[in-house]
Amino acid sequence: MERLGTDVVALTGSAGKTSTKDLIAQVLDRHAPTVWTPGSLNNEIGLPLTALRASAETRHLVLEMGARGIGHIRYLTGLTPPRIGLVLNVGTAHIGEFGGREQIAVAKGELVEALPSAEEGGIAVLNADDPLVRAMADRTKARVTLFGEADEAAVRAENVHLTETGRPSFRLHTPTGCSDVTLRLYGEHHVSNALAAAAVAHELGMPVEEIATALSEAGTLSRWRMEVTERPDGVTIVNDAYNANPESMRAALRALAAMGRAAQARGARTWAVLGKMAELGDASLVEHDAVGRLAVRLNVSKLVAVGDREASWLQLGAYNEGSWGEESVHVSDAQAAVDLLRSELRPGDVVLVKASRSVGLEQVALALLDTEGEVTGR
Ligand SMILES: Nc1ncnc2c1ncn2[C@@H]1O[C@H](COP(=O)(O)OP(=O)(O)OP(=O)(O)O)[C@@H](O)[C@H]1O
Ligand SMILES: [Mg+2]
Repeated sequence: MERLGTDVVALTGSAGKTSTKDLIAQVLDRHAPTVWTPGSLNNEIGLPLTALRASAETRHLVLEMGARGIGHIRYLTGLTPPRIGLVLNVGTAHIGEFGGREQIAVAKGELVEALPSAEEGGIAVLNADDPLVRAMADRTKARVTLFGEADEAAVRAENVHLTETGRPSFRLHTPTGCSDVTLRLYGEHHVSNALAAAAVAHELGMPVEEIATALSEAGTLSRWRMEVTERPDGVTIVNDAYNANPESMRAALRALAAMGRAAQARGARTWAVLGKMAELGDASLVEHDAVGRLAVRLNVSKLVAVGDREASWLQLGAYNEGSWGEESVHVSDAQAAVDLLRSELRPGDVVLVKASRSVGLEQVALALLDTEGEVTGR
């Protein structure tokens, strides 16, 4: 790649890889010709296919790297050695397969171990707010730069708040200056993603104003991640059904609460239509219970738990936190959720739809947007 004059930027993490990769791509592409992973094609098949799309003109190649086990990232970095390596977070995604967060950190950290030394231009971009990511500084020969809300972060956000439409707004600080950013994406979890993108762009020589403008104009390139659509009757559907883990469930619920605050003041309701978070192993009951409780604490109006066992734990959490009765409903499948919502939704209501990929809850969001249709196999 380097022979072609292409800088390879690789990123990994438990949640937000695709969202961040899409942000980095949109920011860097304003600067110089950029090729990036389409969607989530982040494995040993998708990665080489993306790399082959780079040509002599390509200046930046942005690659999402996924891991379901130890050694996976090391293998991918062998195929396309990165000069810049970004690690977003170590969460609980695929924790059942890995066997614990420490093991996930071992696997994700393979990215910074593969970087060239600082003298050779290697740069590790690490999340200052995630202790397991920050500790990866000891595992690399590359120069380390931090992003996050922590004071030590070279690229950081100040005055983070959600606008009343649920969009994150903040002052972006970089070593070369500051500039204001309001994202077009929904949910405060995207602040961390945006800072990561800003840190990469800064390292590649972009001025802060250009980074801030690019971030403020960037949209979603990949589907079903906090995709917000207002129906003609004034019902807003937030389709975040691409995937779910405890971190992203919390972020999405907080976004729903912010977006729905004005609607609730006018008498409309917020609805959290949630299904299970897969692959949580022994932590599953506690994590589902905690999400149900958070829905109550955030004053979500209604919880619709969809599916079997884990859905009942979501509902149980809501009951235990707030003695919720009618505020939470448990339905067996997507069609039942659609039938219920079709009869209950009123103009002004805001509906979040979210679960792990395997649940396929995007069918609920799509059916609610297509007010005539049934749940189909789309
Ligand atoms: N920084 C973040 N922290 C927690 N959750 C996030 C973050 N960024 C995005 N999410 C949420 O995580 C889910 C997956 O987002 P995204 O597709 O960007 O992640 P990914 O890491 O690429 O996932 P995959 O492993 O499926 O490729 C979405 O529901 C999104 O809302
Ligand atoms: Mg992805």
